[in-house]
Amino acid sequence: MNKQKRQAVIAGNWKMNKTRPEAKALIEQLKPLVKDADCGVVICVPYTNLETALEAVKGSNIKVGAENCHWAKSGAFTGEISAEMLAEMGVEYVVIGHSERRQYFGETDQTVNQRVRAALDAGLRVILCVGELLEQREQGITEEICAMQTKIALGGVTKEELSRIIIAYEPVWAIGTGKTATAEQADEVNGLIRSVVAKLYGEEAAQALTVQYGGSMNAKNAQELLDKEHVDGGLIGGASLKAEDFSIIVKAASR
Ligand code: PGA
Repeated sequence: MNKQKRQAVIAGNWKMNKTRPEAKALIEQLKPLVKDADCGVVICVPYTNLETALEAVKGSNIKVGAENCHWAKSGAFTGEISAEMLAEMGVEYVVIGHSERRQYFGETDQTVNQRVRAALDAGLRVILCVGELLEQREQGITEEICAMQTKIALGGVTKEELSRIIIAYEPVWAIGTGKTATAEQADEVNGLIRSVVAKLYGEEAAQALTVQYGGSMNAKNAQELLDKEHVDGGLIGGASLKAEDFSIIVKAASR
């Protein structure tokens, strides 16, 4: 299998942005712009916007995701949301292991793995984020870091379940900085992640895996990145908050 046969997915990561009326307005703007997309279109929104988003996307090709979930089914975890709660609402995707969660909220490779397990058990699809810090790139350990994060996150995940996982390579130094990885850098690490998955699950499963790039992907640079063999879509932060820009990226991924 090659790039042509893999599903490209463009996912917006709204982060902590948009009130409910703002969310509804953005989705209404987006719907006609992406209706002919020949790739998966997902918007991952704050918990408070999930119900609004699910209602607004009805009858469209846009899928809704959350930005995190807890690993326990229920219990004394004040302020947390379980994967089951999301699935019950009709949410299909969840972002797990985003670098902002690792950086600001003590997320570790182990808790990422627990959350991945919980999300899969609840029937969700996972957008699993991995990526190196700037110091790590400068030390020449990008490969090791991304391989380790990928392996630990996938612990206990079966080959069958892998089909519900998308991996997003997001170099931390490129997130929200306007400093994009070059298309060559993105392709190289995405390819490396695919080879790690091939060792764990076999070549066929690895070839079928959607591996996104994320980090300052925008309307201008998307095409060059998305044309690369191992870049099967994107996880888009800032540019996903503007309907026009997001739709240009969706078009760039459509083949
Ligand atoms: P950015 O964010 O596109 O604003 O760099 C990407 C992400 O954090 O997923």
